[in-house]
Amino acid sequence: MSEERYLTFALGKGRLAEQTMALFERMGISCEEMKDKRSRKLIFVNEELRLKFFLAKGPDVPTYVEYGAADIGVVGRDTVLEENRNVYEVLDLGFGACRMCVCGPDSARELLLHHERIRVASKYPNIAREYFYNKKHQTVDIIKLNGSVELGPLVGLSEVIVDIVETGSTLKENGLEVLEEVCRLSARMIVNPVSMQMERERIQGLVGRMREMTV
Ligand code: PRP
Repeated sequence: MSEERYLTFALGKGRLAEQTMALFERMGISCEEMKDKRSRKLIFVNEELRLKFFLAKGPDVPTYVEYGAADIGVVGRDTVLEENRNVYEVLDLGFGACRMCVCGPDSARELLLHHERIRVASKYPNIAREYFYNKKHQTVDIIKLNGSVELGPLVGLSEVIVDIVETGSTLKENGLEVLEEVCRLSARMIVNPVSMQMERERIQGLVGRMREMTV
């Protein structure tokens, strides 16, 4: 009998990857090498179950999955929406729950209400564009930033921001508030469409077991 091929997972670095590995662990899928924080290794293997794991920057996870370099990816829904890659979203893992919101000072409410042509700063220009242009039918100027987006309205770069709100403390500490909710977010499992066909049983078996663990 031929050796079963490896199933490869791309995990978004950081808390999501840790929570995903903790979930796998509860399912009896462990990867000892990955627990060594000092290790500079990039790829971790579970020989017995024929699984491979690698950590990548969140926005790169859908790219690896679309091209089939990973069969399966775990990443926030924010990244799935922003990257808009050709992948199947198969499971809401429940953790990493937060919201994508339009935020700004209270004074910006009026501007939103009257559909003014405002400036919107965001790490997620595609999500911001989709929301303002296709959902609200409001023409705005979108400015891409790479982090600390809350600075936008504070230093006069933009009137509002489109950003992730989890506890709301970053907003509060900077005198900003949620003005509108764009969508709910959480960690998602995504699958390469060809892998889904070729390894349907294995992937669906895994997804089924993970679903049971997350409800
Ligand atoms: C995220 C997000 C907000 C903050 C929200 O930023 O962009 O700034 O967390 O969390 P809170 O509602 O619990 O305060 P992150 O820490 O990822 O850094 P970044 O701003 O550099 O992207």
